[in-house]
This record gives sequence, C-alpha cells and structure tokens, in this order.
Amino acid sequence: MADSTTVPVVSVISLKGGVGKTSVALGLAGAARAEGLRTVVLDLDPQGNATTALDPEDIGLTANDVLADGYQGKLADTLVASGWGGQLRLLPSEPALERRNHPSDSGDEHRLRLAMSRLRDVDLVVIDCPPSLAQLTTNALAASDLVLVVTEPTMFAVTGVQQALAAVDVVRQGFNLRLRPAGIVVNRYRPRSVEHQYRQKELTSTYRDLVLAPVLPERSAVMQAQGSCVPVQRWPSPGAREASRIFAGYLHHILAAGRGGAGKSLAKGTRL
Ligand SMILES: Nc1ncnc2c1ncn2[C@@H]1O[C@H](COP(=O)(O)OP(=O)(O)OP(=O)(O)O)[C@@H](O)[C@H]1O
Ligand SMILES: [Mg+2]
Repeated sequence: MADSTTVPVVSVISLKGGVGKTSVALGLAGAARAEGLRTVVLDLDPQGNATTALDPEDIGLTANDVLADGYQGKLADTLVASGWGGQLRLLPSEPALERRNHPSDSGDEHRLRLAMSRLRDVDLVVIDCPPSLAQLTTNALAASDLVLVVTEPTMFAVTGVQQALAAVDVVRQGFNLRLRPAGIVVNRYRPRSVEHQYRQKELTSTYRDLVLAPVLPERSAVMQAQGSCVPVQRWPSPGAREASRIFAGYLHHILAAGRGGAGKSLAKGTRL
C-alpha cells in the first residue's frame, strides 16, 4: 500500500455522543501500531480526545488549518508523531475546529479528501469523528472508503444506527461512491445485563452480519489506558488483553474490507 488510492481510510462515527468512537479509533490505531503498520489518525472532533490520548509532542497545524478556506498544503506535512511510538502519526484537533462544523451542503465536503491526495507510505488511516453528522463528519466520510458505526446496546441503538447508516448513504450518493459500511461496533457490552442481551439480539437481527463479533465489553482498562495516554495494547490487565484481541480482530476485518473482502459481504445485511 503506497498511496491514497489503495490505503484503507476508515471513519468511526455515531449520531450519539459518548458511545465509544474515540475508544474504537484508538483501539484500532493501537492494534495497527502493534503490528508495525504505518498508521495515521485524523482527529476531526473539536473536543480533541484522540489528540490528548495520542500524546503528541509538538502540535503545529491542526485539522482546523487543513479545512480552512484556501488551504493549499498537503496533509502529510501537518502530521505529528504520536507519543505512543511506532509508526503512528496524528492530525491533531483543536477547539477552534468547531467553526468548520457548519451544516452540510456548504460546498466544502471535499476539503479533507483533497488535502489527503498523494498521502504516501501509509497502511491505514483512521478518522475519529465528532458526535454529529454535520460538515466535519461529511468531510470525513467523503474522504473514506469504509465506515464503522459505534453504538451502545441501549434502547435507541437500532434507530441511532439506522440514522447513521442513512447519513452514510447520503454521503455515498452525493460525494463518494466508494464509501461502504464496514461494520457496527456494539460497545460497553455487559453480558449479565438483560437489557444489553436484548438490545444486542435486536441489533443482530436487524443488521445481521454487519454487527462485528465479538462485541466490545465494558472494561475499565479501556478508560484507564486512555487516561494514561498509552495504547490499551500496552495496559497490563486481563481486561486490556481481551480488548486488545478484539481490536486486533476489528483491524483485520477492516484491512480485509479495504482489500474489497469482508466489507462487501457485510454490506449485504445493511438496510439503508
Ligand atoms: N469498552 C469500554 N469499556 C469501558 N469504558 C469505555 C469503553 N468504551 C469507552 N469507554 C469510556 O467511555 C467514555 C466515552 O468513550 P469515548 O470518548 O470513546 O466516546 P465517544 O463516542 O468518542 O465520545 P464523543 O461523542 O464525546 O466523542 C470514555 O471515558 C471512555 O474511556
Ligand atoms: Mg470522541
């Protein structure tokens, strides 16, 4: 994989806030780093949680600059090394990025994709999106091949996922015919919760094999690793090892989907 025509670019989205988008983006990035892949995380959330967790040393330009009017530079020049080490780089965020999150249809949907052109020597790009489907997420989706939808197994999960997939379809038809759903991540699953069991079954019967297996359980290690700015893959606990195995599985699924494999068959289950 050498340039943006073949590098899988995956956006991590949800309509609802706080369901685990950043945790999934970081888990994938940590899994890719552990496998020696040249990985880039684009933090498109003005909250900057991925930027904080990835602990870069010096921040120069941010996603706010890359999406600014008349930006002529290349994304590759703005990437900074993550404090996690390995071949992991980051496009940082900053609070001022919020000003780019105007409603869609403003005509700026391709800014990120254009900045990413000729991004070389990268094996995987992961985009952490904000909890909205406005312009920042539209820019991310317009630049992506694949999208992961994150949800918790709660009451509004099915309708939330439905709305997210419908938004993906709008962007696919309007701006990016390459875009495909790669899967739904059910996060913070507690196997002893009857409600969680019920909602997981509901999601699986609605979206079938689009729901990634296994689901991601609630594990304090996920939060602890983030709070310490280290990959969960390096956190020393059984919960961290379990989460790491699951993230490795999601990574391989994404890479296979990027090669035109699993994502296509998974997409059969989707109801847009
Ligand atoms: N599987 C998990 N087990 C335990 N804690 C988790 C898990 N997934 C996420 N969390 C915690 O839940 C909180 C919210 O997760 P996260 O920040 O990833 O959500 P988000 O969807 O990115 O939020 P936002 O919409 O604000 O960007 C964080 O404190 C995170 O550490
Ligand atoms: Mg987040």
